[in-house]
Amino acid sequence: MEDPIRRHPTRAEQLDILAAVSSDLCGPGDAVLDLGCGTGYFGHLLHGRRPDLRYVGFDRKGESLGAAAANLAAWGANVRLVEGDLANIGAVAGLDGPWRAIVSVLTFHDLDDPAKAAVIAWAARRLAPGGAFLLLDRIRLTEPSLFGLQRSLWARLERIHGEGMRTADDFAAYEQDLGSDNRPATLADYARWFADAGLAFQPLHLHGNIAILAGARRG
Ligand SMILES: C[S@@+](CC[C@H](N)C(=O)[O-])C[C@H]1O[C@@H](n2cnc3c(N)ncnc32)[C@H](O)[C@@H]1O
Repeated sequence: MEDPIRRHPTRAEQLDILAAVSSDLCGPGDAVLDLGCGTGYFGHLLHGRRPDLRYVGFDRKGESLGAAAANLAAWGANVRLVEGDLANIGAVAGLDGPWRAIVSVLTFHDLDDPAKAAVIAWAARRLAPGGAFLLLDRIRLTEPSLFGLQRSLWARLERIHGEGMRTADDFAAYEQDLGSDNRPATLADYARWFADAGLAFQPLHLHGNIAILAGARRG
């Protein structure tokens, strides 16, 4: 399966990290939930490492789930795809877990902040002992005075990878681009929401402005 999102030069490395960490977290036959699975690319990568696991993909787009069903056919009976809205995930049946790993890739920026916090709290209550919630998404930039440094970082990535990651030329343009389907949260907000949900929080990886954040169930 080809990666449906090719715009991020750091995505391959970060997805590989996420797949490695999730795989190592899981014992034989454990279940992994992917929130905002799209066409199933993470499920595809996970299957390459751990075909013994059970994988459930959740997304609001039936069309994407249709493509995921075809892309993830190798999972056989160990894949399940569920359609629904993350903003209303408490009302969705059949997702109670317990989940050894809950992952979400490039999806949380689509949610408003109360929904982000609510999904993290929902996930925390459904993790198996030793389980973790692993979130990969863009982090919000908040400081005009740091934007020049961010641009240098994007420029370096462009030089190395030959493709762009920059989303704006200056901070005003960056802020203008934020909207209802593009509202990344700050690292500080994520730290607070994970702590409020009772999870031990740690950023695992940060590249450009895209982070992998971990929230582990204690005990
Ligand atoms: C940028 S795509 C990423 C897809 C996949 N995780 C990947 O990395 O290839 C974001 C996905 O999140 C899903 N999504 C966004 N908001 C959602 C919501 N409120 N409920 C469920 N799915 C949502 C979209 O339908 C889309 O498939």
